[in-house]
Amino acid sequence: MSKARFITFEGVDGAGKSTGLEWFANALRERGVDLLVTREPGGTPLGEKLRELVLHESMHAETEAMLMFASRREHVEQVIRPALQRGTWVISDRFSDASFAYQGGGRGVPVAKLEQLEQWTHGDLQPDLTLLFDIPIEVARERLSNNASLDKFEREKGEFFDKVRQAYLARVARTPQRYAVIRAEKSLNEVQQQLADILAEL
Ligand code: TYD
Repeated sequence: MSKARFITFEGVDGAGKSTGLEWFANALRERGVDLLVTREPGGTPLGEKLRELVLHESMHAETEAMLMFASRREHVEQVIRPALQRGTWVISDRFSDASFAYQGGGRGVPVAKLEQLEQWTHGDLQPDLTLLFDIPIEVARERLSNNASLDKFEREKGEFFDKVRQAYLARVARTPQRYAVIRAEKSLNEVQQQLADILAEL
């Protein structure tokens, strides 16, 4: 296979991103790809501690944004970049698009501030491909309602998720070539078909 790819998975809570990610990662491994699957916030011992804080403590929106990028800084240096350099593909369950969507769109942190943090954290590294699981918010909320232990974000109102979704779509409109948008309200089979089509193009 050619150069190791950096692929990220994004979407609002309840979009089915984790199930899709598992399917996609298995499919890549079956094709012999040396693959590392990781997540944000988290992905390193320090990042996982920061994850506990940001998912459960209330804090100023900009503190939240900075902690997301602090976790990401460790993740990029300790995990993502070394893996790509040794030829291992990386799939990350969320990356900076989530900060633009949740802290930017959802909480109203100015995009210009997030762009500065992004530049600082990984100015020279962007995902090769981002799979955005897009879904009407009512459907995502319905899926989440089956989940007993919701974190701070998952307990937000529908209005918050509308803004998160719109911010994701605005990111796609800005640089469409980096994204594949999955219509995630479809059945599991149909979602897998969409993923298989993306895989075939890689
Ligand atoms: P998520 O990835 O959905 O994990 P799980 O499936 O275990 O719930 O949860 C992470 C949450 O963190 C999600 O609600 C989005 C939020 N988040 C941000 O707000 N900003 C970020 O930069 C990242 C990476 C995540």
